[in-house]
Amino acid sequence: MTAKRIILIIGGGIAAYKSIELIRLLRKSGHDVRCVLTASGAQFVTPLTLAAISGNTVHQALFDLTAEVEMGHIELSRSADLVVVCPATANMMAKMASGLADDLASTLLLATDKPVLAVPAMNVRMWLHAATQRNIAVLRSDGIEVMTPDDGDMACGEFGPGRLPEPAAIHAAITAKLAAQHDVLAGQPDFAPPTPRPLAGRRILITAGPTHEPIDPVRYIANRSSGKQGYAIAAAAAELGAEVVLLSGPVALPTPAGVTRIDVESAREMAEAVDSNLPADAAILVAAVADWRAADTSPQKIKKDGSGAVPPLMLTENPDILAGLAKSDKRPPLLVGFAAETNDVIANATAKLARKGCDWIVANDVSADPMGGETNQVHIVSPTGVTSWDRLPKSAVARKLMESIADELDARAPLG
Ligand code: CTP
Repeated sequence: MTAKRIILIIGGGIAAYKSIELIRLLRKSGHDVRCVLTASGAQFVTPLTLAAISGNTVHQALFDLTAEVEMGHIELSRSADLVVVCPATANMMAKMASGLADDLASTLLLATDKPVLAVPAMNVRMWLHAATQRNIAVLRSDGIEVMTPDDGDMACGEFGPGRLPEPAAIHAAITAKLAAQHDVLAGQPDFAPPTPRPLAGRRILITAGPTHEPIDPVRYIANRSSGKQGYAIAAAAAELGAEVVLLSGPVALPTPAGVTRIDVESAREMAEAVDSNLPADAAILVAAVADWRAADTSPQKIKKDGSGAVPPLMLTENPDILAGLAKSDKRPPLLVGFAAETNDVIANATAKLARKGCDWIVANDVSADPMGGETNQVHIVSPTGVTSWDRLPKSAVARKLMESIADELDARAPLG
């Protein structure tokens, strides 16, 4: 089963705590889960718990300006492959059956064009009430799948149908529904299977581009880095489901979808931004950081004095962000550096791996295709050996690298 996006609406009721185990199981299967918590659901589980378990923002209010700017409720209702209501209270199902939209959850359910699975949980009398049974019949005839609750002891002391099914059973029902949906879609001519999201729940920090080291307010030292490879890596990481923070030197590139970009100018600003955006599961330092900066910067533009004398330009060394991070307490579990080399690529990269103290060096030969090109030929150098890839478009290098990083992170620390 490929990874899917699931919206989980959590209604009020003592069974709401079981949604936490359900989220864990869904994420273990590789799915991305976004929670919508109703006001009564929030009496039983906290948004903080749901955010921590799902690895995503929890949506609560219909009129939340920040959330609307990031993802409006209509877009949210359509961003998923499946909407699951769990627990679905009698009240929630009554609203769904009559098309009421007076909070985020009910509005989303009315606005969605995606399949919906409702998992009821309520007191036995409420479940058996004619109104509830009538509402369930309406929902089923509207095409909504309503699971049958379990029989058993209730938190309120009564016995009978109304208990929320066990999370494993709900997970199985979701898997079956997604598989059925996949089979239906796969029969359609323009079907493209969704991208797997092996990096869901991971935070990845990426540096990209050159740095600019000021000499005076109008002049700076720079290099030829275009930022293309770093940006392609950020885009690939986001496509594979990661939360991506891209620390970018000055480049003329658009921010890839789903990526948080922070712009910096100099090496020292980049070092500070790296420090303040950790922790992360992996850091990939692609930036071509200037090795040196002007020892003194002039607050005013340096002027010619007419004598033909050239102003002295004294340089000082910049902090080595990669080597510093490798030694720091904040070192991410997987630390990847880049090395642009013009000669003895593998030997230089192997020496750099040891010198910098990172886990992998992605070495590229910039003698054949200078910085700024559209393709890259890289060697992945690690303490266990060297893997060389064919020359590929930068986007393909990025995708292959992020897939390798996803595998490596899973091997080191599988997502619970
Ligand atoms: N790097 C860094 N901070 C620096 C210089 C480099 O974090 N001040 C990182 C780069 O982002 C890259 C790796 O170190 O991931 C290697 O960069 P490179 O410029 O090839 O290494 P240098 O140490 O500058 O070695 P060289 O002598 O080849 O210039």
